[in-house]
Amino acid sequence: MTTPPSPKVAPASGRLGVLTVGLGAVASTLIAGVELAKRGQGKPIGSLTQMGTIRLGKRTDDRSPLIRDFVPLAALDDIVWGAWDVYPDDAYVSASRAGVLESGKHIEAISDALREVRPMQAAFERKYARNLDGQHVKPISSKRGMLDAIREDINRFREDNKCERLVMIWCASTEIFIEPGRAHIDLESFEKAIDANDETVSPCQLYAYAALLEGVPFNNGAPNLAVDAPVLRQFATDKGVPISGKDFKTGQTLMKTVLAPMLKARMLGLSGWYSTNILGNRDGEVLDAPENFKTKEESKLGVLEDILQPSKYPDLYGDVFHKVQINYYPPRGDNKEGWDNIDITGWLGYPMQIKVNFLCRDSILAAPLALDLILFSDLAQRAGLGGIQEWLSFYYKSPQVAPGLYPEHDLFIQLTKLKNTLRWMMGEDQITHLGREYYEEI
Ligand SMILES: NC(=O)c1ccc[n+]([C@@H]2O[C@H](COP(=O)([O-])OP(=O)(O)OC[C@H]3O[C@@H](n4cnc5c(N)ncnc54)[C@H](O)[C@@H]3O)[C@@H](O)[C@H]2O)c1
Repeated sequence: MTTPPSPKVAPASGRLGVLTVGLGAVASTLIAGVELAKRGQGKPIGSLTQMGTIRLGKRTDDRSPLIRDFVPLAALDDIVWGAWDVYPDDAYVSASRAGVLESGKHIEAISDALREVRPMQAAFERKYARNLDGQHVKPISSKRGMLDAIREDINRFREDNKCERLVMIWCASTEIFIEPGRAHIDLESFEKAIDANDETVSPCQLYAYAALLEGVPFNNGAPNLAVDAPVLRQFATDKGVPISGKDFKTGQTLMKTVLAPMLKARMLGLSGWYSTNILGNRDGEVLDAPENFKTKEESKLGVLEDILQPSKYPDLYGDVFHKVQINYYPPRGDNKEGWDNIDITGWLGYPMQIKVNFLCRDSILAAPLALDLILFSDLAQRAGLGGIQEWLSFYYKSPQVAPGLYPEHDLFIQLTKLKNTLRWMMGEDQITHLGREYYEEI
């Protein structure tokens, strides 16, 4: 297999407009964090683009620049924020309401910047997230009208803020479960479905389609159907616009994609994995509706099967009981608690148990992923990489891959893939970890 030639990467000149669909806990924590980091008032911990390094050449070469010094990423100072939401709260009110950040230290300090981010009216229909009752919604009932209005918003935002480039990221509530169907086969059927107000075309798909029509990369932080619909996947490829998804890999699934590859690497068996969570933010409230939870459940359940490949290892993984629960529990707010009970088997089938109790902060884990996805998808656009960005699998619970491929879930393989993509973009050698050179030259 030969490596294709490295692309030419256009410089990151001018302003980058970032459009977040949804201005809730994740989006407001992202915006506040970036504004604080810009002013030296907070560290962007968890962000590979801001804190990560990349090894180049041999281990003995001692070349490990920061990723942001190696690839031409947009500077945080060049970001301009825009958003849509079902509620009219600006980013200051939204961040205060979400209760993720300390008000004195991390909200008041940048209150002016946060107040400037006022959401545009949402393209929203209640049937897709019935636990939301916001009224800051476009007064349009037809899907075609909504699509046109989103496109107008995008273009107005671009002009008003003199943006050179834009990126869109879905940080809105998880929509109800929709499987790709007749409406999603090709552009003709999708266009017809939009005109017929087909209910399998959700608002998220309309934002995604509007973004692609306007040449704007789209990233999906939630598990609902969007650019993974065949029609949008193909359209993004044909138009050369980067897409990535889906569902930020933050807490419990992050742990799963580290622990399960470890079990498989050591050929340890698994008989059951019971995961449960308590969560009290608005996301938890939306997921309390069974149709919305189903979307999340599908995204969380697929991971183990893809990693463990039970058909290849029937003795080890042929009969795994896997259960995932999310319970809405308001007192905890955004501070989720997850428990995993993992029943494993060792030599001769002797049982053992692993317990994980992760007291995490949902949006604190999600914000850096959102920032990296924004900066990397803008980079992909400038490198001329359209369609699925599999190298961004690192960030997702359900990574999008070409039809017929199984997704790579192992966090460290995903990281290697990401870094090798950056090396390839910049014309550096791939790192294979073979390492014979250290011994043959002695
Ligand atoms: N925080 C995490 O760890 C994490 C991990 C994976 C996925 N996610 C997903 O990220 C998304 C955002 O999470 P959050 O905690 O910020 O939720 P949130 O409820 O605080 O914010 C979502 C916002 O989206 C808005 N919204 C809903 N539908 C909309 C539409 N059609 N147009 C515009 N705005 C709309 C809601 O009004 C709400 O303010 C959720 O779908 C969640 O499942 C979060």
